[in-house]
Amino acid sequence: MLKDQDRIFTNLYGMHERTLVGAQKRGHWDGTAGLIEKGRDWIIQTMKDSGLRGRGGAGFPTGLKWSFMPKESDGRPAYLVINADESEPGTCKDREIMRHDPHTLIEGALIASFAMNAHTCYIYLRGEYIREREALQAAIDECYDKGLLGKNAAGSGWDFDVFLHHGAGAYICGEETALIESLEGKKGMPRMKPPFPAGRAFMDAQPP
Ligand SMILES: Cc1cc2nc3c(=O)[nH]c(=O)nc-3n(C[C@H](O)[C@H](O)[C@H](O)COP(=O)(O)O)c2cc1C
Repeated sequence: MLKDQDRIFTNLYGMHERTLVGAQKRGHWDGTAGLIEKGRDWIIQTMKDSGLRGRGGAGFPTGLKWSFMPKESDGRPAYLVINADESEPGTCKDREIMRHDPHTLIEGALIASFAMNAHTCYIYLRGEYIREREALQAAIDECYDKGLLGKNAAGSGWDFDVFLHHGAGAYICGEETALIESLEGKKGMPRMKPPFPAGRAFMDAQPP
């Protein structure tokens, strides 16, 4: 049984404020720069040790997935893509996070992106999620206002931008490669694998 102090999300039932001030009262955005200072290897090892697994269906170990990202860039940029399509009938776990605890998601995105050498994150949101888009965008805007996103995000020395992309309501776009196709402005159709997204996601990406 999970102990209360080990819970990552603290407002899933929407009983508290979802604003930045509310999130900070619950201990979020606290010491974020300090976590980043500990370095990539430490963050990835901590994720591996935590045993956290993805909730996309396959239960893939999160720390292991993060470790697949190239440690040294070959010149191509790295991106964090968050799958918030959540179209599986009856699932609504991500919805509650975005509605009520958006700051925890954004703070996690900064730490994850740093660990994966990514300066940019795209959140791909299910087309029907209107309220969630409003809540997430409001939280993103607050973060930019307070210096938690953008240049030197949260005083960490890491530049980090988050873009919210609203899907058009297609179930197949929850599949990771179809999602990336859709993000690129193409028809949301799954790709053949390999290459896997951790090695090469954006097919047209050129070195800067
Ligand atoms: C048809 C189809 C639909 C999917 N829809 C979703 C979805 O809505 N949300 C999701 O997180 N994963 C979905 N997945 C799984 C993703 O392809 C991928 O495994 C997942 O985003 C990985 O999540 P993780 O990085 O948290 O492990 C879908 C897969 C298939 C084949």
